[in-house]
Amino acid sequence: MPRYAVFGQPIAHSQSPRIHAMFGAQLGIAVDYRAIEAGHGGFTHALDAFARDGGVGANVTLPLKADAFALCATRSDRAQRCGSVNTLVRDGDDWRGDSTDGIGFLRDLERLGFDACGRRVLLLGAGGAARAVAFALADAGARELMIVNRTRERTTELARALRFDGAFGCELAQVGTLDGRYDLVVNATSAGHDGEAFALPPRLLERDALGYDLSYGRAAQSFLAWAREAGAKTASDGLGMLVEQAAESFAIWHGRRPDTGAILAALRD
Ligand code: ATR
Repeated sequence: MPRYAVFGQPIAHSQSPRIHAMFGAQLGIAVDYRAIEAGHGGFTHALDAFARDGGVGANVTLPLKADAFALCATRSDRAQRCGSVNTLVRDGDDWRGDSTDGIGFLRDLERLGFDACGRRVLLLGAGGAARAVAFALADAGARELMIVNRTRERTTELARALRFDGAFGCELAQVGTLDGRYDLVVNATSAGHDGEAFALPPRLLERDALGYDLSYGRAAQSFLAWAREAGAKTASDGLGMLVEQAAESFAIWHGRRPDTGAILAALRD
């Protein structure tokens, strides 16, 4: 039976094996999908062993999206553009890379009734997940994209890569100087995963704003608490995006798309 897996560190908390099992059950497809712990050092070795063992498809999560991008022999256009890979497909003796984060993010915004077209967006983070989201937002017609990151050089580099007049960069330490009134604030940093929190000013949000954290569970708590406090109309974690990006990966591997609404509702229960 072909094998699938998600690689990352930490990975024990991952909901992906459960989600793919639910997709398989829904569509009557037998799925062998497990979680494999690997960090920067051991990823290539772990992936080789996985392939030898019948591995034909994988997801990669924190902190491996750039590593996965680098090791692919070929990549989809969307992965190539955003410089990030979260989905691997075995292709002969090589891996082909794709990025389903951006489309997964936009599908979840749609579910939340938020249209990014013409909106002002503040994006926290400039790593692999942030890059996928930034390209998706630019493609969706956002009016302005302010990229805020701890390391300033990465904001400038991402803003330039987007080739979008409305993209700007700002160092996290300077976030208090922004004039605010954003329609959407997205937390794409990994700070919450390390139990770290950073201070954000209260006046960043427009009245009907959406605060969205790409993480879920404990890692999202601090940002979502800030968003509610700051007056966001909606504060959402990234569980919906997780399900949507997983559905896109599932469709790439199995050729069929699951009904995500039912799965998300079951996970929320
Ligand atoms: P991913 O692929 O999931 O995006 P990543 O590429 O390691 O992971 O990116 C992590 C992001 O979280 C980066 O934007 C990082 O900021 P730096 O570019 O300055 O490293 C951000 N990040 C991680 N820990 C943080 C913290 N404690 N405070 C603020 N930002 C943090």
